[in-house]
Amino acid sequence: MTHLLAPSLLSADFGNLARDIELVNKSTAHWFHVDVMDGCFVPNISYGQPVIRHIKKHAQKPLDVHLMIVQPERYIQSFKDAGADILTVHYEASIHLHRTIHAIQDAGMKAGVALNPSTPVSSLEDIISDVDMVLLMSVNPGFGGQKFIENTYNKIAQLKDLIKRKDAKCLIEVDGGVCADNIKSLVTGGVDVLVAGNAVFGAKDPIKAIELLSE
Ligand code: DX5
Ligand code: ZN
Repeated sequence: MTHLLAPSLLSADFGNLARDIELVNKSTAHWFHVDVMDGCFVPNISYGQPVIRHIKKHAQKPLDVHLMIVQPERYIQSFKDAGADILTVHYEASIHLHRTIHAIQDAGMKAGVALNPSTPVSSLEDIISDVDMVLLMSVNPGFGGQKFIENTYNKIAQLKDLIKRKDAKCLIEVDGGVCADNIKSLVTGGVDVLVAGNAVFGAKDPIKAIELLSE
């Protein structure tokens, strides 16, 4: 069972962003995970399209953009223009999710839907066949470096069941508190994409950390 690793630039050194992007380019990581926060859907504000445009100039791997913003449907084309390859919106933030998902795909991106820790997997019953990826939040979104919520394992199992029952094709991504201690259980449980911020950029040797987390 192989998996993809997406280092989260939220934990990178914003003053040396080009250097940290270069580090990921050279590493065994697969995607860049790019967290957009609006100070409304989540308490924190991170960065938006102008910064992503610059990330795109340096990045040699796909940009996996995770929108933690209200009404993300307002900005689909502008994130496409900024360089997003995969665009994930929160279930809790988009009322007409079906329309949003198809608008993302029509704009030429893969479409993901993210669930907060308190949102049940069963909410996806009628959208699972339309999405390219489901992102399970394993912390409450807003900050890097938080502790992994153990109930995520139950949600992964439920999601696997739902995907099988609907014969859906989407990837499973887990985001928050991913580290060397839980990576094996997550991959065995069926996770396809692992996001890691602190475990990569907080490590003494990020290249080595990526190697360990992606093997
Ligand atoms: C949290 C973000 C995550 C965050 C993960 O709201 O969605 O992508 O960067 O960071 P770690 O791996 O440090 O929990
Ligand atoms: Zn994220």
